[in-house]
Amino acid sequence: MEYITLKNSDLRVSRLCMGGCPMGGHGWGIVQEQELVNAVHAALDRGLNFFDTADTYGLGQSERTLGRALGSRRSKAIIASKFGVRVENQTTFYDNSPQWIRTACENSLRRLGTDYIDLYQIHYRDGKTDIHTVLDTLEQLRQEGKIRHFGLCNLTRENQAELEDCKGRFVSIQDQYSLACRDFEEDLLTLSREQGLSPLTWGSLGQGVLTGKYDRYATFGSDDRRSRAVYVNFHGDKLLKNLEIVEHMRGVAAAHGKPVSAVAVRFILDYLPGSVVLCGTKRPEQILGNAEAMDWHLEQQEIEMLEYVSR
Ligand SMILES: NC(=O)c1ccc[n+]([C@@H]2O[C@H](COP(=O)([O-])OP(=O)(O)OC[C@H]3O[C@@H](n4cnc5c(N)ncnc54)[C@H](OP(=O)(O)O)[C@@H]3O)[C@@H](O)[C@H]2O)c1
Repeated sequence: MEYITLKNSDLRVSRLCMGGCPMGGHGWGIVQEQELVNAVHAALDRGLNFFDTADTYGLGQSERTLGRALGSRRSKAIIASKFGVRVENQTTFYDNSPQWIRTACENSLRRLGTDYIDLYQIHYRDGKTDIHTVLDTLEQLRQEGKIRHFGLCNLTRENQAELEDCKGRFVSIQDQYSLACRDFEEDLLTLSREQGLSPLTWGSLGQGVLTGKYDRYATFGSDDRRSRAVYVNFHGDKLLKNLEIVEHMRGVAAAHGKPVSAVAVRFILDYLPGSVVLCGTKRPEQILGNAEAMDWHLEQQEIEMLEYVSR
């Protein structure tokens, strides 16, 4: 396993993080609780120690399952959770107010069955609460021992101005990034360089399209978010382009004797300096397959070829 220490912190994490969005049990088709618990155990046994979740994933179900699965092994894990998205009366809105951060944190701690969260991340900015007010609240929670470090998500270079005085306070920045979606590459690179943050990538497998198991006829039931056109990776021309990239990935995977998904992960690890790759997981085989990305490197010409075909 490869490990890295996140910037401005003592968090030593595996460069592969188990993503907990499917663990919410909502919007990813059939997901079974016991398989998820087994996947957490398989991850820990394989040397992964980093687990990402959020209060909104399955409206708390992801945190409950993760907490239950970690059980007595909790101290071996680095838990990253998120706040800032509220769902009430079937309406979703963003809230970074001090009152909500405190409530959200207490709720997450209870669901996770732990008394501290290692990395507490702003899921989305609410467009009104000053970042320094957010930081003051997070600092108080840290002093109370409820969280250890803070992180950011889903920001672009346009957010640089508001982060100007925050250097050294946040640890990480999460954004969507994969061979299927490089739209936020400059944002991730710039924010991590200028603000001194560790880049964490979500949607690293293009929501599954980069694993090589889907073809042009891929369809999903209405209980799967990927049935919706907004999940562009599985629709229209974008799906066809992704499948072209996958064909190139197959050659690389065969040359290294690795699964296609491992090439998707390895490209990010080799291409984005200091990055950590989040992969959503439903079953033990998936996290173990993705862990095959560890402890080897792509050849320079393979990186250049993948960089070119995905551009
Ligand atoms: N900060 C944010 O706003 C934000 C947003 C989104 C996600 N995230 C985080 O990032 C994580 C990763 O993103 P994601 O889960 O949306 O997408 P992803 O990791 O790109 O794709 C996950 C899906 O790929 C499939 N898969 C995973 N490993 C596989 C393997 N080895 N072989 C075959 N199929 C495999 C599974 O679905 P199927 O088996 O059904 O194909 C899985 O649900 C999330 O779980 C979450 O923790 C954060």
